[in-house]
Amino acid sequence: MHYPLRRGIPDLKFRWFDVYTVLHGLMVMMFMSTTLANELGDTLTTEQRVSQLLATMTLDEKIGQMSQRNAGDCHASHHLGDDLRAGRIGSVLNCVDVDSVNEMQRIVVEESRLGIPLLVGRDVIHGFKTVLPIPLGQAATFNPEIVKRGAEVSAEEAASTGVNWTFAPMIDISRDARWGRIAESLGEDPYLASQLGVAMIQGFQGSDLSAKGTIAACAKHFAGYGASESGRDYDTTNIPENELRNVYLRPFKAAVEAGVTTLMTSFSDLDGIPATANDFLLRKILREEWQFDGFVVSDWDSVRQLHVHGLTDGDRGSAYEAVTAGVNMEMAGDAYINHIAGLVEEGLLDLATIDDLVTGILRAKFQLGLFENPYTNPADHRAFADQGALEISQQAALESVVLLKNDGDALPLSLPDLSSIAVIGPLADAPFEQLGTWIFDGDADLSVTGLSAIRNLVGDNVDVRYVRAMETSRSKSTEPFGEAADVAEKSDAVILFLGEEAILSGEAHSRADINLPGAQAELVRRVRDAGKPVIAVILAGRPLTLSNIVNEVDAILYAWHPGTMGGPAIADLLFGIESPSGKLPVTFPRVVGQIPIYYNHKNTGKPPSADSIVHIDDIDAHAPQTSLGMSAFHLDAGFTPLFVFGHGLSYAQFEYRDIRISASQVSLGDTVTVSAELVNVSDIAATEVAQLYVRDLVGSVTRPVKELKGFKRVRLEPHQSQTVEFQLHTDDLAFYGRDMKLKTETGSFRVGIGGSSDAELQQEFVIVVSD
Ligand code: NOJ
Repeated sequence: MHYPLRRGIPDLKFRWFDVYTVLHGLMVMMFMSTTLANELGDTLTTEQRVSQLLATMTLDEKIGQMSQRNAGDCHASHHLGDDLRAGRIGSVLNCVDVDSVNEMQRIVVEESRLGIPLLVGRDVIHGFKTVLPIPLGQAATFNPEIVKRGAEVSAEEAASTGVNWTFAPMIDISRDARWGRIAESLGEDPYLASQLGVAMIQGFQGSDLSAKGTIAACAKHFAGYGASESGRDYDTTNIPENELRNVYLRPFKAAVEAGVTTLMTSFSDLDGIPATANDFLLRKILREEWQFDGFVVSDWDSVRQLHVHGLTDGDRGSAYEAVTAGVNMEMAGDAYINHIAGLVEEGLLDLATIDDLVTGILRAKFQLGLFENPYTNPADHRAFADQGALEISQQAALESVVLLKNDGDALPLSLPDLSSIAVIGPLADAPFEQLGTWIFDGDADLSVTGLSAIRNLVGDNVDVRYVRAMETSRSKSTEPFGEAADVAEKSDAVILFLGEEAILSGEAHSRADINLPGAQAELVRRVRDAGKPVIAVILAGRPLTLSNIVNEVDAILYAWHPGTMGGPAIADLLFGIESPSGKLPVTFPRVVGQIPIYYNHKNTGKPPSADSIVHIDDIDAHAPQTSLGMSAFHLDAGFTPLFVFGHGLSYAQFEYRDIRISASQVSLGDTVTVSAELVNVSDIAATEVAQLYVRDLVGSVTRPVKELKGFKRVRLEPHQSQTVEFQLHTDDLAFYGRDMKLKTETGSFRVGIGGSSDAELQQEFVIVVSD
């Protein structure tokens, strides 16, 4: 064993604790390798291996493990070489060239003093080469199984390049469609986001993190990012503790309980303390209450940004704050590498704190099996975009599409009745745009677009006439609309592909106006005037406000950004090969001014009703009034959204009947069964997502008017029925009360079952204390 030439390390001061560390480390190693290893039959536990390694590390090596560097275009491996050799880097991100990754691993393993392998991070958000629907689209499937399988494929593809850590899932509750990152989220509901977030984690991590093809997951952004003021990215959030715990933190708690390896802090400022320095979040809640034993990475340079926030007077203070709060690793900045050693030497940070933070990082590396297997041979992994991956991408897309409206059964289109179809719009044949945001590695050449899938499906019998009409979704020129209207008029049916290009959602891509951009509304009107049935297929990264076109079209299929195989999924739905089964994971406002609008709101002291509200146009000009409605609504938008959470039509007709509850009274700690008959009263086989909602009628703090507590995808043949059953344990009804403790309160509860959050079939039961 020898000390490396500490090239590039400015601080070469003698440190007593380094000498102590190395001597102590040698003793620990000797002790462990003789005593413990003998006792345990030569097998050390992960914890023992971590302590053993930690005991041999110098402070600089520990700080190195706490530093993640951008490997950019991978040539960085050359620039990073010296720092890798010196043990100054614990993780890199953004290199997906397997040879470069292997070379970086070789340098740290063979040429650094302790040979600690690297964590190799990448944003594998909704697919790698094979792209799945954006996470918001995946949430619309209400199907944990397909979400998990999608994550498995993403992990396997990414792992073949040497990536061993993804920065997903993003489980920020998102109630603001202006926020560009709503696309990356699993929607507005804590229960749905928890179920699907956990499914994604299980897909990425598998049951054994060290197995081939699994990668560490990262639940982000801890916490509250989705509440950025006005939907502007990176902006301030103000979330009272009760709401933080009952809404925003729930998916994170579920992720921690499911064994997520890492968490990422949020860029945002929570009640005056930016998340990256927020010890309430990172220490009290995450470590003390939830006993998280993974590690926390900052967001990109968010440690140094603590200074920009105005919390510290520079990088040194920022390093101090982030370490003290419990951020194990700094992403892409250099505050840790430049300042932690000095802070320790001056006694401002103690070694125990550093050891604790490094322990989390080493633990993850051991769990991933990196010490045994630091290198990647792509031949050991599945090929990119193989048949299985494409099938999962297509199935996820198929289940994600939401049929928002279908007047006069305009859909599905009946092929035998058509001899020509007009396919119009900027997103009908846009292979890159249909992939959506965060697709660093996605391959647009693999995309099958709506246009090509329609052509393929209808064959030679139907004349498919394509008019792009707009260069981009934002184009303002209406000049090509004449041709579009002309083609529409001469065709039997019109399919309009509208929406947003990929660049209009995602990080730093917030919008204040969430109507269809550019001249799309005008395009809809011109085409509608041609007098043919008009089907709108909307590709977008967020809920758009559709009030200005919703009555101008006969049917709307909301396809989000559906990914690689979006085209065939959409074509199958258009022509009735499959029936839509997606449900909205987020409320669709009528107008942007209604935001935030979400289904699980509080009742208020003056809840609105259809009778209580007045529309601005109905205010009598001749009889001056001083009060109108006196309830929680907008004069110009009422109080209902355009489409409620959980909404989604089918080509089949489903009816819910006979809600039953196993007991009208249940003791704390027991389970109640809530069920209803789901009947397919149509001639079409289809899948319905049955949903269970609960309202706690009286609480020590006010409770939402309803909360999703269960969902099931049910496939029914024509005229088939099935009893849909939900088990509800009283713990499922627990919430944080005035004392910020999680508990279920006794009293009356109302349950509802249905095909959306409107769930009108209702029953009540009472929870009592157990005898
Ligand atoms: C910034 C984003 O906020 C975060 O979600 C992402 O994982 C990192 N950059 C790394 O790219």
